[in-house]
Amino acid sequence: MKEPLPLSMECKVFQNRIAPFFLWFLIIFTIFLIFSTYSSDPFSHGPKDKLSLQNQSSLSPAWPPAQPPLMPLPMALQIEEECDMFNGRWVKEPRGSPYTNESCRTLPELKNCGKYGKENGYIYWRWKPDGCDIPRFDPKIFLAIVRGKKLAFIGDSLARNHMESLLCLLSQAESPINVYKDPQDKFRTWEFPSHNFTLMVMWTEFLVNGTERMINGTGSSNFDIHLDRVNKAWADQISSLDYIIISSTNWFFRKNYLYENGNLIGCVNCHEGNLTQLSISFAVQRVFRTALKFISSCEECKKDLVTMVRTYSPSHFEHGHWFTGGYCNRSQPLVEREVDIFSGMSWELRKIQFEELGRVREEGKNNKKFKILDVTKAMLMRVDGHPGLYWPAKRNVNDCLHWCLPGPIDMWSDLLLMALRKD
Ligand SMILES: *[C@@H]1O[C@H](CO)[C@@H](O)[C@H](O)[C@H]1NC(C)=O
Ligand SMILES: *[C@@H]1O[C@H](CO)[C@@H](O)[C@H](O)[C@H]1NC(C)=O
Ligand SMILES: *[C@@H]1O[C@H](CO)[C@@H](O)[C@H](O)[C@H]1NC(C)=O
Ligand SMILES: *[C@@H]1O[C@H](CO)[C@@H](O)[C@H](O)[C@H]1NC(C)=O
Ligand SMILES: *[C@@H]1O[C@H](CO)[C@@H](O)[C@H](O)[C@H]1NC(C)=O
Ligand SMILES: *[C@@H]1O[C@H](CO)[C@@H](O)[C@H](O)[C@H]1NC(C)=O
Ligand SMILES: *[C@@H]1O[C@H](CO)[C@@H](O)[C@H](O)[C@H]1NC(C)=O
Repeated sequence: MKEPLPLSMECKVFQNRIAPFFLWFLIIFTIFLIFSTYSSDPFSHGPKDKLSLQNQSSLSPAWPPAQPPLMPLPMALQIEEECDMFNGRWVKEPRGSPYTNESCRTLPELKNCGKYGKENGYIYWRWKPDGCDIPRFDPKIFLAIVRGKKLAFIGDSLARNHMESLLCLLSQAESPINVYKDPQDKFRTWEFPSHNFTLMVMWTEFLVNGTERMINGTGSSNFDIHLDRVNKAWADQISSLDYIIISSTNWFFRKNYLYENGNLIGCVNCHEGNLTQLSISFAVQRVFRTALKFISSCEECKKDLVTMVRTYSPSHFEHGHWFTGGYCNRSQPLVEREVDIFSGMSWELRKIQFEELGRVREEGKNNKKFKILDVTKAMLMRVDGHPGLYWPAKRNVNDCLHWCLPGPIDMWSDLLLMALRKD
């Protein structure tokens, strides 16, 4: 099976990536030491990993003064789930995954960690929320619920990773047919004919309009991002959809130039002349606001369209990053006390996604539903679930961002199915 995105394309996802980094041995004293080091100028000192220690208040110098106060989380959002899926732990699951690299014909080479020699211990875990159990994924139930419907994943390579996982899970009940693929393989459509179900993936790095800056004809890996202009490549295609699963964050970690109303308002991760320095959080907040508002006010869209925001999925590079020797070779999930959950960048981005979801729910004047697929805490613990070295990399490079298939990312579809059942 040919991997959808060319390798070089997927690799670009990681350039300048600042991975969240777990410092479970860190004592309080060190945390404050680093806060004080970074609070004045987060990117000029020390390793970028330490960014995970920043929270919103320590980012405040880069936070625009014109920022309106963030709305408190609406009560409805906090209590909607009878069982809080986010609080839980990974427990042993002797049955392993519902599919294997043999039974899923669409499993992409880049995620086939077993084939490339990864020990398979990472498959034998399942997420156990504290207050309930998540039933084992049943593709027949899923396909029965989505009969006659269209579902699209909108986002970057992790949205694609989720789509690939769902495709494997569903293929155990019916073989999907690939009916569309654009020349760059950024958009793909699959059909499950006997269930009249359509599954799509739509590529967008930023959700909004972002174009790469070219230097002498080659891409610079830096983007001009219009925070208030939705990316038409996906936005023009949503009118026939019944379900949207929207995500995107990873491309915001590089050096990017931000625009509002067509005017350059500042830059993330750069020190250029008098450009205002803006934070990753600010950019992520604004693009989720733009994208969700667009969906909420979309006149041509289906009245009962359901949109789910899939929260931030962390990477687990240790001792470096994508191109600087970072690796992720742990063989067991972390337990809660080993993870610095609440002070990192991951939690900050998840919080922003919750806030923007709350905002669109309050402002929405129609029947469209907005839900959350809250995966951040569960995935923070899965240091063991990335390809690492076990993928067809041309160089000795670890992938500590994407997730093996089968693997912990299959849990995202468990949450998705539970959310669909509630409708
Ligand atoms: C599937 O993974 C196993 C290891 O778990 C490996 O031996 C085998 O070659 C893989 N098969 C395919 C078709 O990728
Ligand atoms: C498939 O679903 C679409 C959308 O609900 C519907 O219009 C169409 O009639 C269905 N086709 C079949 C063969 O059931
Ligand atoms: C672009 O090309 C010109 C001419 O070859 C060269 O002088 C210049 O340094 C290049 N600029 C960058 C940013 O590489
Ligand atoms: C991005 O903006 C440019 C300039 O306004 C426009 O030409 C282009 O079509 C837009 N692309 C997308 C995908 O929205
Ligand atoms: C940045 O500084 C230059 C001169 O150094 C000035 O001409 C320009 O107006 C400044 N831009 C902003 C946005 O302040
Ligand atoms: C992970 O890799 C590092 C560096 O190669 C090595 O020192 C360490 O022992 C490895 N850990 C495990 C659990 O394999
Ligand atoms: C956020 O940072 C501020 C100041 O740096 C600190 O007082 C506060 O405890 C931090 N909050 C969290 C949740 O880490």
